[in-house]
Amino acid sequence: MILETQRLSLRPLQVSDAEFLFPILNDPEVMAHWDIPEIDDPDLVRAIVEGQVADTASGKAFHWTIRTLDGATFLGACDLSDIDRWHKRAEIGFLLGRDVWGQGYALEATRSVISYAAAMGVRRLSARTHLGNLRSDALLEKLGFEEEGLLRGHVLRDGEHRDCRLFGLLL
Ligand SMILES: CC(C)(COP(=O)(O)OP(=O)(O)OC[C@H]1O[C@@H](n2cnc3c(N)ncnc32)[C@H](O)[C@@H]1OP(=O)(O)O)[C@@H](O)C(=O)NCCC(=O)NCCS
Repeated sequence: MILETQRLSLRPLQVSDAEFLFPILNDPEVMAHWDIPEIDDPDLVRAIVEGQVADTASGKAFHWTIRTLDGATFLGACDLSDIDRWHKRAEIGFLLGRDVWGQGYALEATRSVISYAAAMGVRRLSARTHLGNLRSDALLEKLGFEEEGLLRGHVLRDGEHRDCRLFGLLL
């Protein structure tokens, strides 16, 4: 399903998008609050993208790329994962290349993903941020998510256990 907003085109992720995602997943600043550190191996990014494309095909998740409306500039990616049709819930995720932060693109893209989730019957969205991921927290709060708790020691990253904030939005 292609989603279009005022400035953006969200297209289903394809394996060939791995080359555009690599520089983003290779950037330590973008990956500072991700569950895994920045990735140096393009083949690993390709393997991750292949898994995400397979999850989208099987209905477990939806992964989109985010580009400008004319398709010329690759900006990032967003997704719905852990889709549970019985309980009508899913988790939302997003990332953008560092050079395009601060322009409202994440807000615009995630708003359209939330509308899509609502249209497919999802009634609860969750999101999880590492403690200190202030930009993501701000985005989620702008979208109407409420903080629901602290997941202590949820992520093991670079040899340290990190706490995560859990957010929820009822649609
Ligand atoms: C999380 C992330 C996607 C947020 O990106 P972002 O560009 O800061 O988010 P937004 O789209 O909400 O943009 C908000 C900023 O754009 C500005 N802006 C400019 N034009 C705007 C517009 N038309 N509409 C809304 N905001 C606009 C806002 O003022 C705000 O700037 P500020 O942060 O300096 O106050 C980005 O930081 C990222 O990719 N992080 C790394 C990956 C990550 O951690 N993902 C989350 C894992 S849970």
